[in-house]
Amino acid sequence: MSLIANVEQAAAWDGPEGDHWTEHAEHYEQTTRRHRGLLLSAGLLSPGDDVLDVGCGTGALTREAARHVPTGTALGVDLSGRMIERARELTAAAGITNARFEQADAQVHACAPTGVDVILSCFGSMFFADPVRAFANLAESLHPGGRMGLLAWRELARNEWMSAIRDALAAGRSLPIPPPGAPGPFGLAEAGRVRALLAGAGLVDVEIESVDEAMKLGNDAADAYALIRGMGIVHRLTDDLDAASRTSAFDTLRATLDAHQTESGVLFDSSAWLITARRR
Ligand SMILES: C[S@@+](CC[C@H](N)C(=O)[O-])C[C@H]1O[C@@H](n2cnc3c(N)ncnc32)[C@H](O)[C@@H]1O
Repeated sequence: MSLIANVEQAAAWDGPEGDHWTEHAEHYEQTTRRHRGLLLSAGLLSPGDDVLDVGCGTGALTREAARHVPTGTALGVDLSGRMIERARELTAAAGITNARFEQADAQVHACAPTGVDVILSCFGSMFFADPVRAFANLAESLHPGGRMGLLAWRELARNEWMSAIRDALAAGRSLPIPPPGAPGPFGLAEAGRVRALLAGAGLVDVEIESVDEAMKLGNDAADAYALIRGMGIVHRLTDDLDAASRTSAFDTLRATLDAHQTESGVLFDSSAWLITARRR
């Protein structure tokens, strides 16, 4: 792989976090299917565009973007070798020939040296240790007039899908809230900071819209539990509990999922930003 600046994130995503995601690729990808639909219909894409998908994971957005640009191309980049491998398999299986994938750190790698028309990201651009450098690097890949469209979570308190898991696993502890802007799921939660970052990278016409969508974590509570039980956050919150507290925390988690089971699946509130911008 090319130069890595985000060593901690690479250790997680090119390690256990990425392994878990790869094993449950279709399940993870369906949780944000509606979000991707909104991003793809935001008027950013034309049929001949070349597109870069940042933090593409197992490639759902890259494949969907490739279908929107039949005479263009889509390139997905991600820190995780296993996710990239799975993205290639799923893309070949879908018969998509205008998408390709590269393992790279989008903060520092010149992902598209000849430039792209559009940069997209579905919850893959909140993890940069140095977002100023990362967005400057990404903006350089955009042709003049090129567009950017990002999905990023709003703050934890608005994202029941994550706060409910944390609450269930708290086991009487008061869990620390990640500081605003820290690399992680909520790294772009502050709209003012996003505006400053994108403006600093030379982007204009920044628009930030709230997307409040139910997140379906599984078809039923057992299905959701099978996914969530192995997530990195769940390990981090439970590994230091004693055996009895851990069992009780997992029982509480399972009860929380049961309580959110509906006829349409296990649903939790979520809130994200749909961020769009343009290079001058
Ligand atoms: C929450 S997952 C989203 C994956 C995918 N976009 C999706 O929606 O299914 C975040 C992804 O961002 C990737 N990522 C985080 N930091 C990155 C970086 N600096 N460069 C490239 N990929 C990165 C991770 O490896 C991970 O696959």
